[in-house]
Formats: sequence, structure tokens, C-alpha cells
Amino acid sequence: MSKNFDVVVIGGGPGGYIAAIRAAQLGFSVACIDEWKNEKGGPAPGGTCTNVGCIPSKALLQSSENYEMAGHAFADHGIEVKGLSLNLQQMLGRKNTVVKQNNDGILFLFKKNKVSFFHGRGSFAKAAEGGYEIAVAGAANESLVAKHVIIATGSNARALPGAPFDEERILSNTGALAIGEVPKRLGVIGAGVIGLEMGSVWRRLGAEVTVLEGLPTFLGAVDEQIAKEAYKLFTKQGLAISLGVKIASVTKSDKGVTVEYTDDKGNAQKGEFDRLIVSIGRVPNTIGLGTDAVGLKLDERGAIVVDDECRTNLPNVWAIGDVVRGPMLAHKAEEEGVAVAERIAGQHGHVNFNTIPWVIYTSPEIAWVGKTEQQLKAEGVAYKAGTFPFLANGRARAFGDTTGMVKFLADAKTDEILGVHIIGHMASELISEAVVAMEFRASSEDIARICHAHPSLSEATKEAALAVEKRSLNF
Ligand code: FAD
Ligand code: NAI
Repeated sequence: MSKNFDVVVIGGGPGGYIAAIRAAQLGFSVACIDEWKNEKGGPAPGGTCTNVGCIPSKALLQSSENYEMAGHAFADHGIEVKGLSLNLQQMLGRKNTVVKQNNDGILFLFKKNKVSFFHGRGSFAKAAEGGYEIAVAGAANESLVAKHVIIATGSNARALPGAPFDEERILSNTGALAIGEVPKRLGVIGAGVIGLEMGSVWRRLGAEVTVLEGLPTFLGAVDEQIAKEAYKLFTKQGLAISLGVKIASVTKSDKGVTVEYTDDKGNAQKGEFDRLIVSIGRVPNTIGLGTDAVGLKLDERGAIVVDDECRTNLPNVWAIGDVVRGPMLAHKAEEEGVAVAERIAGQHGHVNFNTIPWVIYTSPEIAWVGKTEQQLKAEGVAYKAGTFPFLANGRARAFGDTTGMVKFLADAKTDEILGVHIIGHMASELISEAVVAMEFRASSEDIARICHAHPSLSEATKEAALAVEKRSLNF
């Protein structure tokens, strides 16, 4: 016997579980299917983000930063730490606890919102009368019939050709978050978000980290001025970053991994590592989804083809998050999930792709929203820029971390804010003000005239807005 639902969501990551909750809030009968298993084989909803992404990486970033601070930074505050030592198992255990709290939280939210949760793999069986038949293969096999289907099956790490992940020596994000002892020499291929975040974690804990990046520019999507500052700071911290490399081969042995590559001058080089993280991007995941059974259209990258409103080529089948076009970010997946649930209810779901913030949780953090200076130049947009360094901010001095700056880019004629770029302590929190401002199409003058608490890092945002008209007060 099939179970009937108004909405079936396949995938319980940030896109899927949020879509399921919003659809239930709107009065639909909703099921969410997710196949992720915890170490005991039980359900672990939350997807990549909760299990092997956003949450565990931020837990380890915080722990490793605390360790580094205790080792180097506390003395300056008059706090002497003697006999500092690392209990890596405790650190990894704490990370696992944080993950589990989030898994349990989602299961609780499903109950609270009356979302029926099915643990297993969901796939299209066929188009059925009044919708689609979805098979669930799990501890119990089930058949569901859905009027609307929301696909939120996420993405998987991309492997280098000829070097599959074994999660022992050659690590994706999954293995990179669970190394049982600090490697002496850690190689990282790809200086993107994962490479820099995970490279930072293991460097802080004592590994010698070498990052090999294929492109000749560092963090090409980031504002050039901010990326240059970041490169300088990360290199100073001890990350050995080589740009413009070409990987020739990756060879595994009992002792480690050898990477042969040519450097930016075309010279042959060899790196010997105990472990290698490969973080060269992610691929949309439609494995075992049964797309052929219903004729769901994929693009050449394997992503589900959707329009601006997340509609697929099939009536009443929607797709959101990492499995479709656009940035692979948890908050983008969530926004799409809410918008699709509201569209199913006949409302006007809304996602503004121009105001999706990005954050790289290194130390210092890097955060931005909107256009970079190089994009504005390429598009021929006339703009004004204003920057303010944390060096001149009282709260940053009190923290003992004055690295970085806030940078505003505003339209030369209208003064509308076009982009805000921050490198510095708590940039992840500071960027929200810029997102709100841009969502309301504020001008830099608007921010400059708003009262900001003193002393706070957010005063640097106000000062950078003032700097657009060259009238900073504290610099
Ligand atoms: P996912 O989170 O991948 O969830 C998809 C779920 O669907 C999974 O549970 C999967 O098992 C399940 N599934 C797949 N197919 C089926 C099927 N057929 N049947 C049943 N279940 C299925 N983003 C940020 O915004 N901030 C961060 O700080 C951040 N940090 C990250 C750190 C790392 C190391 C990584 C790898 C990613 C990070 N991301 C971050 C990206 C973020 O994790 C993704 O953008 C986000 O998880 C995408 O959400 P999603 O719901 O589309 O897919
Ligand atoms: P990425 O796209 O951020 O970076 C990949 C890097 O690898 C790029 O710099 C690319 O030029 C390089 N590269 C690609 N092929 C290469 C090769 N053969 N040799 C050498 N270098 C090569 O991808 P990453 O770091 O794997 O992360 C995937 C995605 O996950 C991110 O794009 C982001 O969407 C998401 N994520 C978000 C985080 C956040 O919001 N803080 C944290 C971690 C991941």
C-alpha cells in the first residue's frame, strides 16, 4: 500500500529539511526521505552540512583556534598557559557531539512540525495518477505517492582522476574532518574554501601544510584587495601555498602519498605527504535517484536543470540546493527550500541571488556580499570605494586582533551599495549588516548615518561607509 503525501522531499540536508518544515507550516502533508546514517546505522538528517560540512568544520575550526590562541595569543593578555597539550580524540569527540545535537534537533523539528521522516534512499519509480510514485529503500521498504516532489539530494566531493578517495590517505571533506592523529606533512590540492578551512585546522594543530592550487590567482572569486591581504596573512601563518600548479600524478604507499606536479614556471616538483586532502570542488548528486524512470533532465555537469524558480522539466517536480545551479551554500539551499514550499502554496517565494553572502571561516575570516571591484571594472560600472582597517578600531585592539579591513563599493552616481568585503575577526557576523542594507537597496550614506554601538567591530563597517565619501572619523 502506498502512502500519499502532498509533498515528498528527497534529501534531508539544509535545503530539504527546511523545505519540508516550511511546507508543513503551510498546511501540506509532508514526507522527507534521507539516507544518511550515523555510526550506529541510525538516521542522521542534516546532509553534508550537518554531518561532514558546515557544522563539524566550524567545530574543529573553533577548537583548533582555541588551541592556537592558548599557545600564542593568551600570553599577551597576561594569561600564562603551562604544559599545553592536545587531546585530539577529545576534540574530535566534541565535534561529533555537536553534529549529533544537530541531527537530533532536526528529528525533533520533524516531529514538532508533523513531517513524516523516512530513513532510506528515495528514488522515482514512475509517474503515478495524481503525482509520482517514490520508492524508499531502507530498513523498511516503502512506497510513497506525492503530488509535489522537491529534490534536495546535494553534492559529493569531486575526486582527482586516478586518485579515488580512500579516506585514509587520500581524503575528501569526510576524511579531512576525522584524521585520527595530526599528520606531520599534510598536502591539500585546491586552495578553495575547503582547502583553506581544513588546511587552517590541521596547521593550527601542528601539521606542515602545503596547498597546491591549479589557478594562477589566489581566491579568484574574492575581491582582489582582500584576496591579496588573505594570501599574505595565510602564508605568514605557515600555509605553504603554490599557485598555478599542474598535478601530474598522485601515488599512494603504506607510508603516505606522493604528488608529482609542475609549478607555475613549468618545473617538475614532487611533494611527499602523510595525508592528502583533495578539495577541488563538488559534483551534484543524483546517484540512484531514478531520474531515467521519469525523464528528469540533467545538464552536462549532472546538475538537475531548473528555471529561476527551481522548477524542473517535469510538472510539480522541483529541485533546490547543491544539486542545481548556483553557489553551493547551505543558506542558499535553505532559501530555495522555503521559496519552493511557498510557490507550491501559490505564494511568491523569493530568493535574491545578488545578496547571498559568502564566508570563509579562516582566521581572519573573509566575508563578502555583492560585486567585487574587479567585477565592477569588467562590467564598466562607475563606482566609489571606501575602506577602513581594523587597526583603527578600538574593539579590535581590545580583542587583540587588528588584522584586516572593511571595504565598501558603491555606485558612483546613486551611492547604492554594490558590494561589501570584509577580512577580519568575526567577518561572518559583520557581513549581515551589509546583506540587510543591500536587500533594502541602501546607499553607503545610509550606513554612514546609522548609530553603531561603541566599542564594536561594526563601527568599522560604518567607518568604511564614511570612507566612500572620504570622511572617516577615526582614520
Ligand atoms: P546536502 O546537505 O548535501 O544534503 C543532501 C542530503 O540528501 C544528504 O543527507 C544525502 O544523504 C541525501 N540524499 C541524497 N540522495 C538521496 C536519495 N536518493 N534518497 C535519500 N536521501 C538522499 N556551506 C555554507 O553555507 N557554510 C559553510 O560553512 C559550509 N561549510 C562546508 C564545509 C564543508 C567541508 C563542505 C563539504 C561543505 C560546506 N558547505 C558550507 C556547503 C554546504 O554543506 C552545502 O551547500 C549544503 O549542505 C547543501 O545543502 P543541500 O540540502 O543541497 O544538500
Ligand atoms: P572550491 O570551488 O571552493 O575550490 C576548489 C579549488 O580547487 C579552486 O580554487 C580550483 O581552482 C582548484 N582546483 C580545481 N581543480 C584543481 C586541480 N586539478 N588541481 C589543483 N587545483 C584545482 O571547492 P571546495 O573547496 O572543494 O569546496 C566546495 C564547495 O563547498 C565550495 O565551493 C563551497 O560552495 C562549499 N563550501 C563552503 C564553505 C563555506 O561557506 N564556508 C566551506 C566549505 C565548502
